[in-house]
Amino acid sequence: MSQSRILLIYAHRDPAASRVNRALLTAAATLPNVTVNELMTRYSDFRIDVAHEQRLLLDHDVIVLQFPCYWYSTPAILKEWQDAVLSYGFAYGPGGDKLRGKVLMVATTTGGPVDAYQAGGFNQYTMSELLRPLQATANLTGMSYQPIFSVHGVRMLDDAALDHAATAYRARLAAV
Ligand SMILES: Cc1cc2nc3c(=O)[nH]c(=O)nc-3n(C[C@H](O)[C@H](O)[C@H](O)COP(=O)(O)O)c2cc1C
Repeated sequence: MSQSRILLIYAHRDPAASRVNRALLTAAATLPNVTVNELMTRYSDFRIDVAHEQRLLLDHDVIVLQFPCYWYSTPAILKEWQDAVLSYGFAYGPGGDKLRGKVLMVATTTGGPVDAYQAGGFNQYTMSELLRPLQATANLTGMSYQPIFSVHGVRMLDDAALDHAATAYRARLAAV
């Protein structure tokens, strides 16, 4: 059986300043079936090339959205990408079946520690709860939503723990 083609859409407000997502991305990019699409590098002006992005989606089976969690949500460039690219007639509505049958996986990093993201914890909600709009997007577009890959407590993460997380991320993607 041929390998799934994975499109890794990376959204970071300031890619040059990233430590954690950069390490995850570098590990993921060593997989031969992963195409990395760095949104902020390509679209620092937020002017998304919709036709190009839709072509990329059509050419892949698995879509990974990787981003640092900002204000319990996605970075603005990823929201802009969604608003522009997941259009009527492409992702939903009449004829909008182009994503149907693909797989959607979210990979995110948080400053807050893992135990903050639960009922009764500092942030009260799990990442699954906070990122429901992405799950609803998968539902609407007919994509299969995978369990979230997350790295928490990034300020406490030493280099060995970061290496471990990056290896685990690569293994998750290799197993999709
Ligand atoms: C604008 C902004 C908003 C953030 N919001 C959150 C948040 O809601 N929850 C949280 O746990 N961490 C939050 N953080 C921390 C980031 O998630 C953290 O710095 C990031 O995951 C680290 O990844 P990086 O090294 O790739 O930048 C925020 C950081 C910034 C800059």
